[in-house]
Amino acid sequence: MSERLGIVLAGGAGTRLHPATLATSKQLLPVYDKPMVYYPLTTLMLAGIRRILLISTPVDLPGFRRLLGDGRGWGIEITYAEQPKPDGIAQSLVIAERFLEGRPSALILGDNLFHGEGLSRRLQAASVASGPGATVFAYTVSDPERYGVLEIGADGRPTAIIEKPTAPRSDLAVTGLYFYDSDAPRRARTLKPSARGELEITDLNRTYLADGTLKVETLRRGNAWLDTGTQDSLLDASNFIAAVERRQGLKIGCPEEVAWRQGWIDDAALARLAEPLRKSGYGEYLLRLVGRR
Ligand code: G1P
Repeated sequence: MSERLGIVLAGGAGTRLHPATLATSKQLLPVYDKPMVYYPLTTLMLAGIRRILLISTPVDLPGFRRLLGDGRGWGIEITYAEQPKPDGIAQSLVIAERFLEGRPSALILGDNLFHGEGLSRRLQAASVASGPGATVFAYTVSDPERYGVLEIGADGRPTAIIEKPTAPRSDLAVTGLYFYDSDAPRRARTLKPSARGELEITDLNRTYLADGTLKVETLRRGNAWLDTGTQDSLLDASNFIAAVERRQGLKIGCPEEVAWRQGWIDDAALARLAEPLRKSGYGEYLLRLVGRR
């Protein structure tokens, strides 16, 4: 099977967070102790994905390049592409078509945070799965009307996905992590803009649903899927990460640590990455890991 490649979409104007995002990208804002984009990036890394395309606006791309570089220090390869206008999540598959070169992909939204026991095992299983189709991850939420909402039939198979329904018929939201076969870019090219003028990821997922090849993985309550769309949800996410990290003394969404635990970088490389970060405590944390594997 050909290697699955990753896509992080970190576009958008972050208008709901203005003025905090007037001069910077939302996905570069901190969630507690690290930039937001570290979390989705490490989610892909935990799935075993090492070649990643980061898509952002022409204005914000330089900031991401400055932060992440070519990824080599973390044992991965990061390349960059522009989404000139916020024309929808599904457009990222069209933008990524040349990068993917006919390979399957995993797309994650740059503002989605996932955390939970056994999550990386499930992500790895979804990532190595071959054959036609798409996999989405569903999560029970109290405010489904804000998301793509899944309806599931009596046999446990998905029957419908509705984007931001006014009267949701279930509380199962589609999270911003999607595994696609190699056909996704072609399908994305056939989509028409929605009423809000975007190529909707829900419409792309519906093409798989219509073919009977959409797989739903439910993330149960022991997992956290956090949203950072508003000041309050961003603060909640920071508080959640802070509470768990302080209690355990272990970090969530730390790319250096994930690369090291995956065996992509060794102790010496981890120590080198830690050195310039020592003053913040983040570097001290990395140094404490050295030799403890
Ligand atoms: C997008 C998708 C929606 C999905 C959500 C997850 O919403 O359209 O289906 O549930 O991401 O974060 P948007 O961010 O465009 O409001």
